[in-house]
Amino acid sequence: MVGYAFMGRAHSQAWRVGPRFFDLPRDPVMQVLVGRSPDRAAEAAQRLGWAEVDTDWRRVVERADIDLVDICTPGDTHAEIATAALAAGKHVLVEKPMANTLAEAETMAAAARAAAARGALSMVGFSYRRVPAITLARDLVAEGRIGQVRQVRAQYLQDWLADPEAPLSWRLDKSKAGSGALGDIGAHIVDLTHFITGQRVVGVSAMLDTFVAERPVATSSGALRGTGGAGRGPVTVDDAAVFLARLSSGAPATFEATRFAWGRKNTIRIEVSGTTGAIAFDFEDMNVLNIFDAADEARTAGFRRILVTEPDHPYTAAWWPAGHGLGYEHSFVHQVVDLVEAVAAGRQPTPSFDDGLAVQRVLDAVERSAASRSTFTSVDDAGAGAGATASPAASLREGA
Ligand SMILES: NC(=O)c1ccc[n+]([C@@H]2O[C@H](COP(=O)([O-])OP(=O)(O)OC[C@H]3O[C@@H](n4cnc5c(N)ncnc54)[C@H](O)[C@@H]3O)[C@@H](O)[C@H]2O)c1
Repeated sequence: MVGYAFMGRAHSQAWRVGPRFFDLPRDPVMQVLVGRSPDRAAEAAQRLGWAEVDTDWRRVVERADIDLVDICTPGDTHAEIATAALAAGKHVLVEKPMANTLAEAETMAAAARAAAARGALSMVGFSYRRVPAITLARDLVAEGRIGQVRQVRAQYLQDWLADPEAPLSWRLDKSKAGSGALGDIGAHIVDLTHFITGQRVVGVSAMLDTFVAERPVATSSGALRGTGGAGRGPVTVDDAAVFLARLSSGAPATFEATRFAWGRKNTIRIEVSGTTGAIAFDFEDMNVLNIFDAADEARTAGFRRILVTEPDHPYTAAWWPAGHGLGYEHSFVHQVVDLVEAVAAGRQPTPSFDDGLAVQRVLDAVERSAASRSTFTSVDDAGAGAGATASPAASLREGA
């Protein structure tokens, strides 16, 4: 594993706990933790449960005893580490957003396809797909429980930058992060929309805003917040991304990603309205999925609140009795479980690098649209039929 801070801790916990709660076909060995500072990496390895440390990921990805490389570093390193690891025949798990630019994402997806043909598999860490309520939402939509998708509304809201004195971190530096709220959290809701609806975003009309242009330089940093010093530096990414979109069926979707929504700490809301019902999810109540069935009699109709902790629900049988909820970290455990099972079966895990590329194409279209006064912009190569529906005039007709 490369990187050992926020995601490094979440992934370590998943590698440690996954095999103890799920019957895995392979037993992951947490062999090497890679960090730039030997002392800090050694301390982290000791705490997180890795057998040894190295300061050079290039050396580690070439090692014969390493089977899989888990990339938990900022986006500017993803393409280089992932392509080197795949070329060395290793399986790869890379954090989201998959890359900082569309060109990098294309290179990574091509490398992943070539590596898959040689048996080296890869996956992107869109972990929220593996919250049981979200996996259930995907299953119900695929089964036709809400009919055809008419509309999607998706929000990812945080507030850790709303204070103008919150310090700079790599997440506010375009050269490290690629983009701001757009790639950091907007990428998740684009992926969730692709995942839950089985459709792709094919065109967007977007606005990107940077509300605070300059901030204190950080003297220390935690997972998101840090402490600022006397010096100040520029913010080079968006603070908020708001966009309208078309899905492949022509259905309209709205997206909002911001780190300026006071009082919203990690709110991920996604609501899908179909022809015969709706589903609604909010990460602040992450063990719950709400479902509305238009066939219910009006007197007693309403959103039904499903507590997604029954043994029949996705992933939940391995954990606790019904009603004993799961938390943020469990989606990372499920990610490891699905990855190890796919690798053992020689099957392509999802989300694949092609799925990561699909999200990156949307992020790129959002940036192009925002740069041209929100002009409706097609997502290049958005999939079969994209050209036919990627116009702002496209509409979703009954039965279309
Ligand atoms: N799946 C999710 O929900 C989720 C949540 C948070 C972050 N992320 C993603 O995870 C990735 C890492 O984010 P984070 O929040 O863990 O960041 P972080 O700042 O907490 O940790 C980054 C780690 O990478 C190391 N690092 C940085 N540059 C490096 C380099 N050149 N070589 C080796 N190590 C290097 C740092 O020392 C640190 O250990 C990002 O792509 C981010 O978007 C995903």
